[in-house]
Parts: sequence; structure tokens; C-alpha cells
Amino acid sequence: MMDLTVRIGSRTLNNPIGVASGTFGYGSEYEKLIDLNSIGALYTKAVTPEPRPGNDVPRIVETPSGMLNSIGLANVGLERFINEKLPFLKSVPSAVIVNVAGAEQRDYHTVIETLAAEDGIWGWEINLSCPNVKCGGLALGTDPTLVENLTSELRALTDKPLIIKLTPNVTDITAIARAAEQGGADAVSCINTLVGMLIDTEHQRPILPGGTGGLSGPAVLPVGLAAVYRVSRAVEIPVIGVGGILEPDHALQYLLAGAAAVQVGTANFIDPQIHQRILEAVEAYGERHDLRAVREIGSLLQ
Ligand SMILES: Cc1cc2nc3c(=O)[nH]c(=O)nc-3n(C[C@H](O)[C@H](O)[C@H](O)COP(=O)(O)O)c2cc1C
Repeated sequence: MMDLTVRIGSRTLNNPIGVASGTFGYGSEYEKLIDLNSIGALYTKAVTPEPRPGNDVPRIVETPSGMLNSIGLANVGLERFINEKLPFLKSVPSAVIVNVAGAEQRDYHTVIETLAAEDGIWGWEINLSCPNVKCGGLALGTDPTLVENLTSELRALTDKPLIIKLTPNVTDITAIARAAEQGGADAVSCINTLVGMLIDTEHQRPILPGGTGGLSGPAVLPVGLAAVYRVSRAVEIPVIGVGGILEPDHALQYLLAGAAAVQVGTANFIDPQIHQRILEAVEAYGERHDLRAVREIGSLLQ
């Protein structure tokens, strides 16, 4: 049997297959559908200090090869997260990673400081793709200096694994990854959604009320793979690959590109069991190629 464990900072994941933030709710939504035991890491929907109702509908629209969403970080906020969501998450056998978001730097501090005393949280994934009010609405994750500063501030608040989630909507994603590493991140995950748009030609208006949204699904697979390939060669810390995984082979491509672990997002809406199929395929791949540990896959790429 191949060793499937993945070390991130001070902790170890049982296996490299996770479910991506925003596509798996707070876990309980999937409880009756699937066996949660085989998930390596469950990344929660983003948590902000206050509840957020989210954007006007429609928030989701299908595109020729993916989906466009403009959810607007709709979430229950910290208080309800603690009282209503965390009790279930504490019973989940996989690592629970809280996706943290905010409209300004202080919000990220508040979420981590408030949740620090709670059991059942394995680590943090910091969503830097939110439009930041203090930066005039520009995503926080597009500026290396801001990323390094915020990462080091959050590092000082927690010993748990700190994963910085990178936006692909930048010129050089490796510069942002290096800034996160410099700030003390234990890992980076990439990619978040790409900015996209669709237009209703008869009514001459954007289909999403906000104009643009985030593109995910099959269309972004090559973008995510290239990001992981480049970022994993630019930093020493583990890289978690996410974007467009629809089939086990896509996850294997991420591992070959240099990802230590992966996340499945949009595909959960089509097949909530997909993480299980991927895990089986990774194990079979290990057997076929005589591997002792999943971490060896990254060194196979020629
Ligand atoms: C409906 C929806 C909601 C999402 N919400 C979040 C979120 O709250 N925080 C976050 O970091 N990423 C969020 N994402 C991005 C995903 O976690 C993932 O990075 C992205 O969709 C690419 O992966 P995929 O192509 O497998 O879906 C969301 C994606 C979708 C489709």
C-alpha cells in the first residue's frame, strides 16, 4: 500500500484528496449523499466575521465548458458558524480547513482569533481573492507586499497549518506565492476562479447582475496546472492544486505537475463521490508505477 499522507506545516493529512471551498458547504449538506470518511480535507465555505447574504440572483450560470459564479461570499458569519456548523464539522473524520475571507485585513484576524479556541479545526485557508475595500476593491491577493504582510500577521495568530489561496488573476502568480512563503505560510493553494463574463444578447445586459463572476470547471484545468507547475518550482512549501478536476486523471496531472495535494470543486455538483474515485485511481497509479509514497509522484514528470 502506498503511503497517502501529506505533511502540511505541523500536521498531516490522511490522503491528498480534498473538497474545495464553496462547493461543499459546511459538510453536513453532503452527509446523507456520501461517505465523508475518505475525504482528505474538507475546506469550508468562506467564513467572514458578519453574516453575508451574498449577491443578487442569478449567481450561477453555465458556460460552454464550466460555470461562472457570483455568490458574493454568502455565508452565515462567525457566530452561526460556531453555533450551527462547527458541531457537525467536529464529528467529521477528515481534516476540516476553514476558508477565511473578509472585506479588509482586520476581518481575517477576527475570524482566526475568534475560532482559535474552538476544537475541530485542522487549519486555515486564506481566500485572498475577495475585493478588498481598503485597496479600492482590488483583490488583496494581487499585491505581493500586502500578501506577505497579511500572511505574517496571521502567522503570529496561529500554529495550525496556514494555507494561502492564490488568485490566478495576476500577471505572475509565482511572485504572490513567494510572498506568502516569505510571510510564513505553510502551503499555498492554487487556483481560485478566473474573472469571466457572459452576456444576454437579446436584453443587452450581462447575465450575472454584477457583470462579471468567477469561472471554474473544465475550462480552468490547464490554467490551474500551469500555475501549480510554476509555483511548485518557485517555492519550497507544499502546493495544493485546484481547478477543473473532473476526472481522476486530472488529479494525477496536478500531482505530476508538483501538487502535494488537490481539491475538487465544481465536479462535486456533478458527482459528489468523485473524491472517492480519485483516491482509488491514485492508489492504483501508485501500484502500477511501484511507488511507496504519493509524494513521489511529483518527481516523475519529465
Ligand atoms: C459556487 C462556488 C463558490 C466558491 N466559493 C469559494 C469560497 O467561498 N472561497 C474560496 O476560496 N473559493 C471559492 N470557490 C473557488 C473554488 O474553491 C475553486 O478554487 C475553484 O472553483 C476552482 O476549482 P474547480 O474548477 O474545481 O471548481 C468557489 C467556487 C464555486 C464554483
